[in-house]
Parts: sequence; C-alpha cells; structure tokens
Amino acid sequence: MHCKNVLIALVAGAVGALAGSSSDVHQLTKDTFDEFVKSNEIVLNEFYAPWCGHCKALAPEYEEAATILKEKNIKLAKIDCTEEADLCQSYGVEGYPTLKVFRGLDNVSAYKGQRKAGAITSYMIKQSLPAVSTVSKDNLEEFKKADKVVLVAYVKADDKASNETFTKLAEKLRDNYPFGASSDAELAEAEGVTVPSIVLYKDFDEGKSVFTEKFDEEAIEKFAKTAATPLIGEVGPETYSDYMSAGIPLAYIFAETAEERAELAGALKPIAEKHRGAINFATIDAKAFGAHAANLNLPTDKFPSFAIQETVKNQKFPFDIEAKITKEAIEAFVDGFVSGKVDPSIKSEPIPETQEGPVTVIVAKSYDSIVLDNDKDVLVEFYAPWCGHCKSLAPKYDELAESFANSAFKDKVVISKIDATANDVPDEIQGFPTIKLFPAGQKSDPITYSGPRTVEDLAKFIKENGKYAADASEPAVDEDEAEEAAATSVEASTATEEAKEKETKHDEL
Ligand SMILES: *[C@@H]1O[C@H](CO)[C@@H](O)[C@H](O)[C@H]1NC(C)=O
Ligand SMILES: *[C@@H]1O[C@H](CO)[C@@H](O)[C@H](O)[C@H]1NC(C)=O
Repeated sequence: MHCKNVLIALVAGAVGALAGSSSDVHQLTKDTFDEFVKSNEIVLNEFYAPWCGHCKALAPEYEEAATILKEKNIKLAKIDCTEEADLCQSYGVEGYPTLKVFRGLDNVSAYKGQRKAGAITSYMIKQSLPAVSTVSKDNLEEFKKADKVVLVAYVKADDKASNETFTKLAEKLRDNYPFGASSDAELAEAEGVTVPSIVLYKDFDEGKSVFTEKFDEEAIEKFAKTAATPLIGEVGPETYSDYMSAGIPLAYIFAETAEERAELAGALKPIAEKHRGAINFATIDAKAFGAHAANLNLPTDKFPSFAIQETVKNQKFPFDIEAKITKEAIEAFVDGFVSGKVDPSIKSEPIPETQEGPVTVIVAKSYDSIVLDNDKDVLVEFYAPWCGHCKSLAPKYDELAESFANSAFKDKVVISKIDATANDVPDEIQGFPTIKLFPAGQKSDPITYSGPRTVEDLAKFIKENGKYAADASEPAVDEDEAEEAAATSVEASTATEEAKEKETKHDEL
C-alpha cells in the first residue's frame, strides 16, 4: 500500500536478464520435498508465487547462485506456493519470496542475506562452514578464497582465552565472514605474524590486514568491520544498506563510466586513507543510479560529482557541482566537513505566503517551527507528488483537517503535509505516504500511523495518541456568536442601568 521511496528503489536494484532453459535450481513439490531436503546437507529453499514481482526479480540471481553453489554441494530449490499451498503453510510462509536454509527437515532458519547472486553465494558458503573452521597449511590458501573477506586467528594451542573470545565472536558474526583458526606455529610464521593475532584476508585493496592487540570481542569486531570495508568501495543495491547502517558518513563519487570511476577513486585514495574508519568512500555508477544524486541535493544530469552524506542525521553535503573534482579540492572540502565548517545543504520549497487549503503546507524551512511546536499535536503526511496512494488520500485528509479546524481543538491540533521529494526532512521515509503524529511535549518520539487511511481512523489515532485527546467532533465555541452575546448582555445591562437611573430620577421627581 506504499509508493516506494527512491532510496529503497536503489536497494531493490535492477532486474537481470532471464537465465536459459537448463536450470540448477531444483523445483520441489510435496512429493519430492522431504526426500530432497533429507538427502542434502544444506538446502536453500525459495517459497514463491509465479505472479510475485520480487520473485521474478530474484529468479536470475537465484539461478546464478545455484550454478556457482552446485560445485560446493550446496543445493538451491524452489517451491511454487500456488501449487503447494499446504507445504508452504507448514513452514509458516506468509509472503513471497520467503527464503529458508534447511539442514535436514528439523533445522530451519530464515535466510538473512540480500537477494543478489553474490550475496546468496557468499551467505550459503558461510552457512555451510562451521562457525570456526580448522585451518592448516594444506587448506589455508583455499580457505582464503572462501569469500571476499575471511578471518583467520593464529593462537597457541594452550591459549584458551584467545580461542574462546574468537570462537564467541565467530558464532555472532558467522553470517558475515568465514572464520578459521590455527594453532600451527609454523603456519603463523609463514604468514608473517606472531601469536596470538588475527589476519583478515581480502581480495581487494592491500590483500590483508592484521590484528595484533589483545583479543577482545568488541575490538576484533571493530577491526573486522573497518578492514573488511574497501578503502573505496562501490555503492549499489548490495552494499547500500550496509553503508547506511555503518554509523559513519559516506562520501559518494558519482561517475558515468568505469574508467572515470577508477580514475577518480585513484586520485582520492589518499583522502580515503586519511579518513579510514571515520568516513566511508565509495564510487557510484551514475548511469545506473544517477537518480540517487537528487537525494544528495546534486543535479541528476551532471557528472562526475561528489557529496558526503551524514548517515546518522541524514544530512547532505554536496560538493560544488561547478568545481572540478581534484585531490586538493576534495581534500579541503572533506577537511571542512570534518571540522564542521561546511553547512549541510537543505533542499526546500519556499515557505508558502498564505495557507490556501485546510491542510497546513510544510516545507523544509518551516518544518521545525511547525512540526516541533511543543504546544501542538501535529500530524504530518510525507508525500510524493507522483504517488497514487497519496492522491487518493488527499480528499480524506482535507476532510480530516476541516473537522479539526471546526472543532474545539483548532488551536491545539495541526493537520499538515510535506512534499518529501522537494524538501529535506530529518525523518527516514521508507514509502509514501508516511503519516506521523508529533504529539505536544513529545517531539523526539513521533508515532507512525499504520491503520486504514479513513477520516474516522485518523481522527481516532490523533485522539488516542495526542497530548490533548482532541476530539474532532467536539464543536468549537463560536467566537463571533460569543462576542455578540457578550455585547448584547453589556447593552442589556447598560439599558437596565439607564432604566434604573431613570427610575431613580423618576423617583426623585
Ligand atoms: C542447526 O544447525 C547449525 C549448524 O550446524 C547448528 O549450529 C545449530 O545448533 C542447529 N540448530 C538446531 C536447532 O539444531
Ligand atoms: C579452540 O578450542 C576448541 C575447543 O576446545 C578446539 O577444538 C580448537 O582446536 C581450538 N582452536 C585452536 C586453534 O587451538
């Protein structure tokens, strides 16, 4: 029921070409499922429906992964839930596609990776390995190639503490990296490390990074995360969400050709090195994902370009689109960003001079003063002009605003909307429309609306969650009438006074 946000579209990525007719994905039915799962050590099952769009997008990726994994004896299978409803139901399938890892019929876990060939391959290889593989001089070279990044601990056989710490971390992060360990002193020496230490082998950048501090779960995890992130990586559907959740800013290098991206990455490498672990640097294919430039307040038709995104506060720092991208210019810009001398760019429509309709129109520049007004319960609809669900909500939303404007709570409740494609908002908006209530006195803790989009349900939501328990059906005390009544009563009393006076006077007569 949501229109997708552009950011999410980037995650969903492009749909690949369909594979040929011969398939390495096993089609299972209720008659073949049990036998197949029992006779294979590890199976990834996709529960799908033929009409499902996400399933169609996954299909070529799934095929590709199945072909690669066939050699490692990891099987990929699929079950058409429109044909095998009972089988799907017995495994609690609620949406499509659902991917589950089976180790026999009783050991079933949800697939937690991305739906891309590379990610599926890497995830399943890690699933097929023990949490920590024993590494020897015979299999080390092969183990290094198990994934883009692998971790190997070299420890003394009697160093129980280091072994335990490493094993615990491996159990926690086994979906992320293959872990290996060796107590062979000669092997450690051959790899050029002292014991205990951990080597992170990677198929990019300098090829490996070494951890030599005391084994501590948190320190190793941080080391792994930093060392496993390419110095200058690539933003794409497989990496985007990791970059967004990394907790540090992301610097984008937009360029249209692979050559240009490589050239710029080469030129900016020293800057990435200087800020390693503090700012991620990545190139992005401007031909495929140029629309994403708009999210960074950069034009979508002029490349190359450069921007930093503060991922925690979602602030954007676009580099001057007219300036040339050179090492010196970007270094100065990044240094300025780090020292807080560069202001974030805020995209905003102009503040409307008058509010035309019943719904208050917010723009980025008026967002704080209206939404964060601590005396008011403020309902905000984040919409996109092209979104059909937003259009069908509009008349109902107007009606909702009218009803509060005519109620006793007209000064306490604000019904508002903001075009989130034309204005930067601090909130993370996953789809349109997103409706949130910012109750008075509780502005840092907005409540997202997820009910049916009817006038009655929205009004009830405001009443139940707002500070004032505002009831849209409670009529306003009409000020004009009240004033008139007051005026009349003053006149009346004056008249009585005069009359009394007259009476008195009369009495005097
Ligand atoms: C399932 O298999 C994994 C890998 O062998 C194992 O670590 C886990 O304990 C098993 N879970 C159950 C419930 O048997
Ligand atoms: C770590 O400890 C486990 C369990 O005691 C043991 O099986 C394994 O061989 C040890 N690893 C190394 C590298 O010594």
